[in-house]
Amino acid sequence: MPELNTPVHLLVYGGNGFVGTKVLELAAIRGATCTSVSRSGEIPSHLKRLRPAWSRQVTWVAGNALHPDPSLVASADGIVCLVGSPPLPTFNQRGFEQQVMTNGRANSAVIAEAQRQRVKRLVLLSAHIPAVMRSSRFGYYVGKQQASEAAAVYAKASEHNAATVIYPSAIYGKRYTGGGTAIPLGLLMSPVAWMMRCLPELVSQFLPESPVAVQEVAAFAVDAAMATERRGLMVVENQDMLAR
Ligand SMILES: NC(=O)c1ccc[n+]([C@@H]2O[C@H](COP(=O)([O-])OP(=O)(O)OC[C@H]3O[C@@H](n4cnc5c(N)ncnc54)[C@H](OP(=O)(O)O)[C@@H]3O)[C@@H](O)[C@H]2O)c1
Repeated sequence: MPELNTPVHLLVYGGNGFVGTKVLELAAIRGATCTSVSRSGEIPSHLKRLRPAWSRQVTWVAGNALHPDPSLVASADGIVCLVGSPPLPTFNQRGFEQQVMTNGRANSAVIAEAQRQRVKRLVLLSAHIPAVMRSSRFGYYVGKQQASEAAAVYAKASEHNAATVIYPSAIYGKRYTGGGTAIPLGLLMSPVAWMMRCLPELVSQFLPESPVAVQEVAAFAVDAAMATERRGLMVVENQDMLAR
């Protein structure tokens, strides 16, 4: 429990990725101190170059979500799990297991450690998966299901625990390459998102859900990670983020 005037400390697994950097930015602007954990521990190159003021509140450490550091986890007031891989099909058992490991086991290991260390708030970024892809042969889906189940178990483990699971469709915004070049996904996807939202309900039932802006996804994640009054399991659907 943080002392009065002690900043909230958030631990963000996958904080150096596309959504992670936006989560860190919004949380730091709201006064949180943040630790980003990723296998490389690297600061994204565009941040190294621009050094925005908020990034001074972030510590970048190397670590694997599959083996979370208990003392680091115990130091957090809230944990945000953003580890994942793209929803690609797999063609052999190894590829399938890789998808389950990255999207499922890695996040579940962090969630189990959060439970052991009595961290009170957890946010998991899952994904909205169209009905036709919800199959036990699709490793991405199996992994996301595993992680969501771990979050539900965490929420039930103590009356003090609050878990929020977010299910975005495709996310658009400015994504940076490893070299720091910006790919403005928003230029293409925001008009698509707008058109899809305008389609009659009947037509939209046959399409994947409308893409959502990274700003919205990150704002929901940070709100949940910093909401001291929440308890139990909360689910945020893609439609909830589009409606804001
Ligand atoms: N982008 C989308 O359109 C979208 C849509 C729906 C859902 N999602 C979900 O949202 C989450 C974040 O997506 P994103 O696009 O921000 O992904 P991203 O850019 O690939 O970021 C994920 C980060 O996780 C880190 N990571 C991977 N494995 C790790 C491990 N075992 N331990 C610690 N860190 C690890 C990676 O850094 P290192 O390589 O340095 O470890 C990477 O920077 C994912 O779960 C994704 O499935 C994304």
